[in-house]
Amino acid sequence: MNPPPIAAVQTHGLTRIYGSLVALGGLNLTVNQGDLFGFIGSNGAGKTTTLRILATFLVPSGGSASVFGHDVVADADAVRHIIGYMPDFFGVYKDMEVTEYLDFFGACYRIPSGQREKTVSDVLELVGLTEKRGTLIGALSRGMQQRLGLARVLIHDPKLLLLDEPASGLDPRARIEMMAILQELQRLGKTIIISSHILSELQTLCNRVAIIEKGKLIYAGPVQGARQQIADTAVFWVRPKPDQQDTALQLLRGQTDVVSAEHLEDRIKVTLASHETDPTFIPETLVRNGVRLLEFYEDEMGLEKVFLHVTKGETQ
Ligand SMILES: Nc1ncnc2c1ncn2[C@@H]1O[C@H](COP(=O)(O)OP(=O)(O)OP(=O)(O)O)[C@@H](O)[C@H]1O
Ligand SMILES: [Mg+2]
Repeated sequence: MNPPPIAAVQTHGLTRIYGSLVALGGLNLTVNQGDLFGFIGSNGAGKTTTLRILATFLVPSGGSASVFGHDVVADADAVRHIIGYMPDFFGVYKDMEVTEYLDFFGACYRIPSGQREKTVSDVLELVGLTEKRGTLIGALSRGMQQRLGLARVLIHDPKLLLLDEPASGLDPRARIEMMAILQELQRLGKTIIISSHILSELQTLCNRVAIIEKGKLIYAGPVQGARQQIADTAVFWVRPKPDQQDTALQLLRGQTDVVSAEHLEDRIKVTLASHETDPTFIPETLVRNGVRLLEFYEDEMGLEKVFLHVTKGETQ
């Protein structure tokens, strides 16, 4: 049997109240070691509040949170050593050179001066900024500044990265680069929590997601599960050879597990009553009856759609 996964983050009834506003209303969340965890919610859902509590910058009003077993309030110092927190907005020192900036933070973390040069080179390499080591920060593009922000939180080799919308404001290419770096960091053994509104990207990036709304957890688990939770039926698409469309349609309509089969342009939409049904009978039936298949795939219900459905667009 595999050993149980180690919890990188565990919260129990985590609550934060501002005046009369309940920003977090009893959040129970588990993030396992090695997860690249997507934290999703609309504006004001409580993402930043949660990340700031985990980063020990904000004290909860109730409940508890721990990072690798260390309580974020009682054991805040231990937590600070093992996390790297990148806030949604962070100031950069525009008149500093890239290496000076990182060296400065290395010194803050008491990395001995003899070791800092190598550490700075290593993190620059990781975020793909080696070529810009001598550049003034003010002359870096937005995407590069974000990557520098990431380099900064990596300097003390933290186990857990808390990244608050690290891809916001980036163009598609810079975003993809950022995502590739995060995947590399996961491969290197980091646990990563990333909050974002860019849902379609988290869908392929993250192995697990949590969706929160008005400070409450709506869903936590694999991306696929989020889809199944809201859609009872499973939809598949079939593209037979054009002259075999009608034959394929008749064959599919005769199957007991098929709720409906409809003809849409050059393909057929096949709806099954449940996600439990093994869909392999669809291509099997067609091929066995001489229909040649050009394509067969599951309907991609995007996380965007799931998100809109479960959150109903409510913000506070
Ligand atoms: N310092 C504060 N004082 C009062 N209310 C606050 C404070 N910080 C956050 N809030 C409120 O708490 C709720 C949660 O805010 P939070 O910043 O955690 O949301 P978020 O999910 O990060 O949103 P966004 O996507 O806009 O960044 C919001 O209603 C916000 O207005
Ligand atoms: Mg926020």
